[in-house]
Amino acid sequence: MSETPDQFLILGIETSCDETAAAVVSNGDTVVSSVVSSQVDLHARYGGVVPEIASRAHVELLTPAVAQALVESGIEGNELHAVAATVGPGLAGALLVGISAAKAYALAWGLPFIGVNHMEAHLYACFLEEPDLEPPLVVLLVSGGHTMLVAMDAHGQYRLLGTTVDDAVGEAFDKVARVMGLGYPGGPAIDNVALTGDPTAVKFPRAMPQGLDFSLSGLKTAVIRYVRDNPETPVADVAASFQAAVVDVLVDKTRRAVAEVGASTVCLGGGVAANSLLRERILDLCTEEGLRCFLPSRSMCTDNAAMVAAAAWWRYRADGATPLDIGAQPNLRLA
Ligand code: KG4
Ligand code: ZN
Repeated sequence: MSETPDQFLILGIETSCDETAAAVVSNGDTVVSSVVSSQVDLHARYGGVVPEIASRAHVELLTPAVAQALVESGIEGNELHAVAATVGPGLAGALLVGISAAKAYALAWGLPFIGVNHMEAHLYACFLEEPDLEPPLVVLLVSGGHTMLVAMDAHGQYRLLGTTVDDAVGEAFDKVARVMGLGYPGGPAIDNVALTGDPTAVKFPRAMPQGLDFSLSGLKTAVIRYVRDNPETPVADVAASFQAAVVDVLVDKTRRAVAEVGASTVCLGGGVAANSLLRERILDLCTEEGLRCFLPSRSMCTDNAAMVAAAAWWRYRADGATPLDIGAQPNLRLA
């Protein structure tokens, strides 16, 4: 990167799953505009994301989302300094829509293109909202497709401490909610209905596989079986009991990760980081252990493009532009 203007403006694009999003972010820490066009209604009738429908919806929704992000920012395309898009992990066809569009905008405006890892973007949502945050830190990244405990030693340097051996935590929320008739996406629905339930009503299993890994399929199956066998138990009690079991496991493993790494800062990222009980319990953990804690705002936890532009700013300063021959990387790893 030859020279850095005072305000380095990046257009971020996010299309890895079922949110079509565009945002303009300045210097990785100031959101100038952020637009999220949710496809939830399109997928809800199928009880989950249908990849082909997601790709087609991204094609329809992306250009208007970018136009709106630019209008709201008051910035013309050629006044930007770079265009970024999520290149993975995610749904191949969905990713391709955002990547192709971002490259086209970059070429048309003569700007560098920056490819971003979606999970790194979830982490950088924290730096976007809390610019004085500093590594080293431990981050719990929990989304629809991923469940990871990661040690961030420095910007761009990660160690995977633990991950799920089966289902991702968001996936477990969504499947359990579907069986309880709570609709899609299940996470927010369970969070909401659990507020009025008794978390001790049903004792669901808390699987603790070795080390810092997670296993959620046993819990998911136990809840599904319980709901079928005990239709009279109030949904709120089942939801609260399931949520309590998930959060117990997540918080316990985070506590161990912090001890193992000797970290003094803990962050959360990903859609499930919007969960009320998880936020409360991670805050309690940090208070008990005297740790600095940062929880992104709920809208910054779920998929958006501002986090993509924020991660892109750091990525560009470290590595410069991404070659334009990069394609979609559905299984891209963080570490
Ligand atoms: O990060 P995200 O928006 O998309 C992916 O990268 O997957 O995460 C979506 C996931 C879904 O499984 C959704 O049910 C879950 O995050 N989620 C929640 C909450 N809000 C969204 N899970 C639990 N509690 C919530 N409040
Ligand atoms: Zn995500």
